[in-house]
Amino acid sequence: MSGFHGVDHVGVGVGDIDAALELYGRHVGFDRVLFDWTGELPSVEAFAGRAPRVRVAMLENGGATPIGPGRVKLVQVLDGDGPPPVPEGQAWGEVGVCEICLHVRKVADVHRRLVAAGCASLMEPMSADVPPAGVSLDISYVADPWGTKLELIEWTGLWRSLPGPPRAEGVNHVAFGVTEMARTRAFYERLGFTQLLFESVDFFDPMAPWYRAPWYDPGRLPAQHMTMPMAAQGAAIEPVVLDPPGPDCRGEWGHLGPMDFGIRVANIDAAAAELRADGIEVHGEPQTVDLGGGREWRSVAFAEPDGNYVSLVEGRY
Ligand SMILES: [Fe+2]
Repeated sequence: MSGFHGVDHVGVGVGDIDAALELYGRHVGFDRVLFDWTGELPSVEAFAGRAPRVRVAMLENGGATPIGPGRVKLVQVLDGDGPPPVPEGQAWGEVGVCEICLHVRKVADVHRRLVAAGCASLMEPMSADVPPAGVSLDISYVADPWGTKLELIEWTGLWRSLPGPPRAEGVNHVAFGVTEMARTRAFYERLGFTQLLFESVDFFDPMAPWYRAPWYDPGRLPAQHMTMPMAAQGAAIEPVVLDPPGPDCRGEWGHLGPMDFGIRVANIDAAAAELRADGIEVHGEPQTVDLGGGREWRSVAFAEPDGNYVSLVEGRY
């Protein structure tokens, strides 16, 4: 397949998009608002069961680098009872999108800054390395006020950041739970995610406090099988299999927390046709949101093996 350019953005449900624009714009570094649109969004009908009325803001990080090229899409559901809650029982790695990882310069400094700005500290900054190549990284976790886990990584074994002050540098990867790793790897390989950065099968102990009763037995935590396939461009994916499996945490589309992601394509009509020719179910025709001024946001949802909320996106904005 051709014309697939990695993860374009991760969609995050928020309860107050103005407050989220302030937090993500001023403190996380996503200071470029590519569009801020309100309307009924037909492209997610297959996930939401309707064309939900939403406000959507697509944000780019002005300090983005090739190792953190992804964007953040803030979503506030406006119809019905408003944004559905974070799925119950979500720790990390259940089916559903479970984190956004930002590549940052100086993890400890950015961590402190985000906690001061109102995020919760979920994992204090530490250094680690990942098998099988022993790539080193600095890592920490915070949560935004609506429950999105933000992983902060500096991939010190791959790339030390550009000169400059401590800062986030865009989305490095999106983590999501799946049920069969081999099937998921084969599926996303056809979408361009061919390079494996790491693979591990052990439980990452600093996450232990996230796995709570009654959904988990803290004395018998699940094994975590994680991989990180990268595409030549765009952000990476981090599929995770828990054994034994946790609850289904896809939740309702638009729920608070990370909940969907988009794969960037150069030509969405050609890309959708390629998926169909390969036997992948594409949910209808690509839908166009007219952003005015000759700018368009085109997207179409498709069925990935575990029903995670994934779309193709062609952005002309
Ligand atoms: Fe991650």
